[in-house]
Amino acid sequence: MGLLNGKVALITGAARGIGKAIALKYASEGADIAFTDLVIDDLAQKTVDEIAAFGHKVQAYASNAANFDETHDVVAKVVADFGKIDILVNNAGITKDGLMLKMTEQQWDAVLAVNLKSAFNFIHAVIPAMMRNKGGSIINMSSVVGVHGNAAQANYAASKAGLIALAKSIGQEMGRKGIRANAIAPGFIETAMTQALPEDVRKEWMERIPLRRGGTPEDIADVATFLASDMSSYVSGQVIQVDGGMNM
Ligand code: NAI
Repeated sequence: MGLLNGKVALITGAARGIGKAIALKYASEGADIAFTDLVIDDLAQKTVDEIAAFGHKVQAYASNAANFDETHDVVAKVVADFGKIDILVNNAGITKDGLMLKMTEQQWDAVLAVNLKSAFNFIHAVIPAMMRNKGGSIINMSSVVGVHGNAAQANYAASKAGLIALAKSIGQEMGRKGIRANAIAPGFIETAMTQALPEDVRKEWMERIPLRRGGTPEDIADVATFLASDMSSYVSGQVIQVDGGMNM
């Protein structure tokens, strides 16, 4: 018996990285998987194939999570294809780092749109389906920098802090409908996003982590499984830091 048997999960930005690890873990626990990414290319198709190997239904949808209309179209398609949505993971995210004095308006707007407005778009579109379903679990992928801030990441940190406040607000607004909303705040996780960092920055991060290693996408997927499953049926409005003890 999987923890997510019979549930339908929609995960954004899941062609690779943390989103992909969550999709695979959810499928291994019995869920049917709908996921989005900007394009459904060979990489995304490979992810589809890996998920399908667990024997559950899977469908990938091309959409820009920052686009309100596209997002609503995708959610309508997922409901038509799967019949319901039990779990929404707002995972799609980007960085466009820079010190405030050098940060352009474009850097600010792009990061806020992809990281924060996207979650509004998907929650807005998914909530009617969850209400019909008499419940659901929404998980926003925040970051430790959304809790603590980070120099040269004002746009990213602000977007990730917004995702926490968004989860808490939805948790309060929708709790009586059986809908829970929580946030995960990963620390330094080994993905394409962090592989792009210079070696000295990586070293600095490692020195701050008591467990002395970067996290894996699977470390995040485990916590995302707990929050999606009935194991956390009395948990809402929380932010769980998954960071090797970097922030205590
Ligand atoms: P990644 O860059 O490997 O994967 C992000 C995925 O989102 C990609 O498949 C990308 O194509 C997709 N995406 C980007 N813009 C999109 C858009 N507009 N619409 C739809 N899909 C879009 O990143 P990673 O590391 O897997 O991160 C996943 C989430 O976890 C992000 O929200 C990130 O901010 C967050 N996070 C990551 C940390 C890390 O150390 N890697 C730490 C804290 C948070």
